[in-house]
Amino acid sequence: ICPGRASMDSLDLVSPYLFKHRRRNFLVKDKMRPADLDALHHFETRPTDIFLVTYPKSGTAWMQQILVQIMDAAHLGWAEDATNRTHVPWLEERSVDNPSRERPDPRIFGSHLPPDMLPRGVKANRIKVVYVWRNPKDILVSLYHFSHVWVLLETPQSFEGFFQQFLDGDVYMGSWFDHIQDYHKAQDQLNIHFVQYESMLKDLRGEVVKLCAFLEKDLTDEAVDRVVEASTFKSMKTNPKANYKDLVETGRYKGETMRKGVAGDWKNLFTVAQNEHFDKVLKEKMSNLALTCVWEIK
Ligand code: A3P
Repeated sequence: ICPGRASMDSLDLVSPYLFKHRRRNFLVKDKMRPADLDALHHFETRPTDIFLVTYPKSGTAWMQQILVQIMDAAHLGWAEDATNRTHVPWLEERSVDNPSRERPDPRIFGSHLPPDMLPRGVKANRIKVVYVWRNPKDILVSLYHFSHVWVLLETPQSFEGFFQQFLDGDVYMGSWFDHIQDYHKAQDQLNIHFVQYESMLKDLRGEVVKLCAFLEKDLTDEAVDRVVEASTFKSMKTNPKANYKDLVETGRYKGETMRKGVAGDWKNLFTVAQNEHFDKVLKEKMSNLALTCVWEIK
């Protein structure tokens, strides 16, 4: 995709790969421009819609699989013979799929947008929002690796440079700290269910059961077991509907998206000094956050 010169000139470029709009960074190589992003606020929602919202690399594909499996179990035959990307199209990205195409209810959308940029119906109609969040140190490392394989992102020159870019919010979607803070502040105005990546690693079944309660889907124990089994890292890695393999085949990804799927991989890349610096920033920016962080898996 090569956007025309005229549309490039009007963009507030952060880098040749990212442009800033409403404090967030979007993809130059995607087809969405500021007016398109603003138009999403008027995107027609349905009360039965479900929004999966994440900051990049927080476990989006994992939750896509869980949601699709829950819906498949709850509505026999709901899942078409399609990839999860087709079942859960991306609201603000036009590279691959069209989110407004006709499909059966409940429609599920993926988004990285902050709460103020979501379709207004999400708030007005108390549409269900599932928000997955993850240890930002692992997000940083996952995004660093992902930036080497996804053609829409700039390949980092060094880990050191990328580390600072992440802390400064000069990465895809902007600051992680802002993203989580914005959703935390908006939680009373939204019908939102927070799920932590590390909690899913620790007790996937327990999190699936909580999710079913939020989605008002009454599954049998056996059906819950099947959702869990289909959503393990091992199952997803070999499931082409869940692991984005088709995008590898079309050249959009130059490598594996199901990379490690663990907690604490940051320890393999952060120096002691970087870790101390990150902790200091985390403490400064997140001290008001009442969400309990259980980063380490015991
Ligand atoms: P790593 O790069 O740390 O391995 P997203 O889907 O938001 O882009 O997030 C991608 C991250 O989620 C990757 O992290 C990927 O491996 C991990 N992931 C995907 N499916 C998973 C699963 N079933 N269990 C654990 N982690 C999973």
